Order: sequence, then structure tokens, then C-alpha cells
Amino acid sequence: MILITGGTGYIGSHTAVKLLDQNEDIIILDNLYNSRAEVIDSIEAITGIRPKFYQIDLLDINGLEQIFKENKIDCVIHFAGLKAVGESVAQPLKYFNNNITGTINLLMIMQKYNCKKIIFSSSATVYGTTQEMPLTENSPLGVTNPYGRTKLVIEEMLRDLYASDNEFAVVLLRYFNPIGAHKSRLIGENPNGIPNNLMPYICKVAKGELTHLNVFGNDYDTVDGTGVRDYIHVEDLADGHVKSINKVKNNSGLFTYNLGTGNGYSVLQVVSAFEKANNIKISYKITTRRAGDVATVYADTNKAEEELGFKAQYNINEMCRDSWNYASKH
Ligand code: WQD
Repeated sequence: MILITGGTGYIGSHTAVKLLDQNEDIIILDNLYNSRAEVIDSIEAITGIRPKFYQIDLLDINGLEQIFKENKIDCVIHFAGLKAVGESVAQPLKYFNNNITGTINLLMIMQKYNCKKIIFSSSATVYGTTQEMPLTENSPLGVTNPYGRTKLVIEEMLRDLYASDNEFAVVLLRYFNPIGAHKSRLIGENPNGIPNNLMPYICKVAKGELTHLNVFGNDYDTVDGTGVRDYIHVEDLADGHVKSINKVKNNSGLFTYNLGTGNGYSVLQVVSAFEKANNIKISYKITTRRAGDVATVYADTNKAEEELGFKAQYNINEMCRDSWNYASKH
């Protein structure tokens, strides 16, 4: 049985669908702070299977233990966590408590019930302001905000846990920039309020809910001066988790992988790809740089390809098409 924490979230729900499609037995845990219970209905509509769902907060250690008492959990995919960079700067303790204390609770209950397989949703943000591109799994680590610090601290805790007990199987997946949505248009990225990230913001402009996109600086040392990132389809990310499940099924050890495409696109290249894929004009204004942004981030994908057999399949046009197909319906 696989427990998916944060399983009604953006990447969690796509991973749940893909695991159900592979006839895996899953349970979803989520506190619904940043997602909706209706996602369970959508997962059932897509797969024909309604996964068991617990509305539990990882800070509720007794509620969490009850799940392990009632179910034989063999492996955990740990998505649950707060992830708004700006909010983490304003409220670091909220992020440390929710993301780090929540994970400590999860790991203590896993150890108590002899569950020693975990796949952790990490992030390229743990590379901090490293300039050397492409980023490999051995690139220097660093943090630029409290959110990124929680991801790095959790990685360090998992490295220490594995060092203390080599029976653990740990996979750290460092996501680059997830966009896109499932072809059914039933699940996707649906942030509340004004989006922080580029693609959901573009979708709200496309829907007419926002008047224009603010492009945060065009004076970077990049192809057109705007920020370059490695966008990856959420379906490719979900596939990376399925391949990681297969990895932990037969191996103990600690494994770290970048999940990206290895290609970088600038903000204006994404705008242009979105306009072309969806035949929609996106108005934008160039504004000042956003604090904490770096010019260019993209992945070296060789290790995931060689060791996981993972290679992203979707191109930027398909990502823009699928993001819009979902956003235009929700
Ligand atoms: C992408 C590019 C912006 C919005 C963040 C988190 C990271 C990870 C992914 C969780 C940049 C530009 C954006 C806008 C813009 N999240 N932009 N106008 O910053 O690469 O990464 O999301 O793990 O931790 O830091 O993604 O989508 O915010 O920005 O010009 O309204 O788009 O400057 O160049 P980012 P993003």
C-alpha cells in the first residue's frame, strides 16, 4: 500500500492517477489547506477507482498514526507541504512548523510501523543561487528563502535517517518548474488568489481574470533578457514518481534525482509558446526584477535517465496546451 501525503494537490493528484493506472494500491492523506476534496471525485472519474482518503494534518500525529494502524503502508510519497516562496519569507515559523515538524511526525510514525520506503518531493530550489548550468545532483546546495530551507532541511534529515538505518530506501526528487495538466482536464493547477508562478498567472490573463502579465525584469543575461527556467509537464513528473516506486521496491539506499527536461525557456518564449498553442494573445508589461530570482535555471537530466530510466516526453507547446485546457474549464 502506498501512502500519498498531499495527494489532492497538483503533483500529488497526477501521481495518484498514474499509480492507480498501474494497479497500485494507494491511500491519500491531505489537510485540504491548499486543495479541494473534489479532487478525489476527479481521480475516481479518471481512473474508475476511488482511493481511500484521510483529511489529516501531519501535525496531528495521533490521526497520522491511526492511518498506519488501519492500513499496511509499505511506502510513502511525501508531497504535503506549504510551497509559496513569498509567504515563507513573511511567515518562516509557519513553514518550519508545517513542513519540518510535519515531516518529523511522518518519519517517526513510519519508523514505529517499520515502513522504510519514502519518496520525497524536493525542489530545484535547494540549489540556491548556483550559477553553473546545467544543474547536476552534485551542484552546490544553498537556500534563498525559508521555503527552500525547509526542503533542504528535510533532505538532510532523510540523509541522516538513511545513515542511521541502511534498510531505508529514500528517493529525493528535485523538481524544476512543473506546469501542464492531465488530458482529461479534470485535475490541474488551481491556486487560490493571485498566482505566484508564471503559468497559472498567464492562464488567468488568458481567462481575462487579470489584465496582463508582469514580466519580472528583461535585463538578465539570457536570450531575451527575461528569466529562463526548465519547465516540465506534471504528467512527466508523475511518471518520475512511478519509476521511483519501482526503484524503492527492489532497492534500499538513498537516491537523488533532478526531474526536469534539460531545456530552458525564457518568460517571453513561454508567453509566445502559450499564444501559439492556444491562439490567445497575452498582454504583458516589463517590470522590475523579483527579489530572489536568478537569471537561468535548468537541469542536467542524465542521472535520472541512466538510473531511473526517466526522460521527459512532453514539449513546451503541449505543456502550454494542457495548462490552458485545464484552466479554461476551472
Ligand atoms: C518562473 C519565471 C519569474 C511570475 C518557483 C519556486 C520553486 C518552485 C517552482 C516549488 C521566473 C517569471 C513569474 C510572474 C514573471 N516551486 N515570472 N511573472 O521562481 O522559477 O520557481 O516555482 O518548489 O521553488 O521558487 O517559478 O513560476 O515563480 O517563475 O515574470 O508573474 O517566470 O521571474 O523567471 P520559479 P515562477
